[in-house]
Amino acid sequence: VLDVDLLACPACGGALRADLACRACGEVYDSPLGVPCLRSSKCDARTDEVRAFYTESPFPNYPPDETLSTLRRKAERSELARLLDLAIPGDASVVEIGCGTGQMSLFLARAERRVVAADLTRASLELGREAADRLGVDGVTFVETDLRTPGLKPGAFDVVYSSGVLHHTPDPRASFEAIARLAKPGGFVIVGLYNAYARILHRLRRLFARATGVYAFDPVLRDRRAEPARREAWLRDQYLHPLEHRHTVREVRAWFDENGIEWIRTYPSSLVSEDAPADLFVPAEDDWGPEALLAQLAWTRSLWAEGGLFVAVGRRITRARTS
Ligand SMILES: C[S@@+](CC[C@H](N)C(=O)[O-])C[C@H]1O[C@@H](n2cnc3c(N)ncnc32)[C@H](O)[C@@H]1O
Repeated sequence: VLDVDLLACPACGGALRADLACRACGEVYDSPLGVPCLRSSKCDARTDEVRAFYTESPFPNYPPDETLSTLRRKAERSELARLLDLAIPGDASVVEIGCGTGQMSLFLARAERRVVAADLTRASLELGREAADRLGVDGVTFVETDLRTPGLKPGAFDVVYSSGVLHHTPDPRASFEAIARLAKPGGFVIVGLYNAYARILHRLRRLFARATGVYAFDPVLRDRRAEPARREAWLRDQYLHPLEHRHTVREVRAWFDENGIEWIRTYPSSLVSEDAPADLFVPAEDDWGPEALLAQLAWTRSLWAEGGLFVAVGRRITRARTS
């Protein structure tokens, strides 16, 4: 069942009817294989290149023997996924922007949650849609859309989650602005991005691979030896991507401020001695620039194995500030 209440016309922002016709401008959208195509116009050349890249190798893809319990077990091995699942209320509306093949969306689609899994790449969405059918997961609406002109209703979501995506768009700051407005006032915005410091060791590893053709020192590639499609997806994503940016905590904080998103915390913590939070949506105890810099330098070592991705969490301000 399509959750059309959470969707919108990408051309004019109007509400959609159940048959995917826009109530405002009359544009009608197709839904091949049950995945609505809510794209308004042609992408720019760089975004097209990113789409072609993931069409060739959908990320992260599924192992052939995936079941609901293996999917959940794998997700629960990630502390971040566990914390997200704990923090998100059971009746929340959630959108995952750049969901790829949709693992996180399928994992979060529990209880009464309404989850929209959105991505630019139809090949990935179709794998996600098939997996949802095969594994019997209801409650996820897959949507093909470009996050800069999303076919999603602004201000409709309790949680906007996007990991590993904005740094692959031509202008990550503008992309953040586009996704931040999807959150309700009081809704949470969570973005996973390559960190400028934490990715240094990966960049050296990548330099070595490009120079020698040898992909060494990569534990993810080692773990996926027996899963060729998922190994290939990781290798391409990490070593051969046509468009990649990296960001500091300070830079991402500025994006939050510009868009009326209150800063809550990073994951891992950017306090030097703080352990994992009990609640991802509770503000960090302190918030000091020099300490965040030290923490990022430490991430160079702690996050290198998985490519230096960190997560920033914020909350859309409920009312406009008066001062
Ligand atoms: C590295 S994959 C991350 C997939 C998933 N979030 C994960 O962490 O496994 C990046 C995804 O972002 C999507 N993407 C890139 N640019 C996009 C855009 N402009 N709009 C929507 N999705 C986009 C790609 O199609 C791809 O599936």
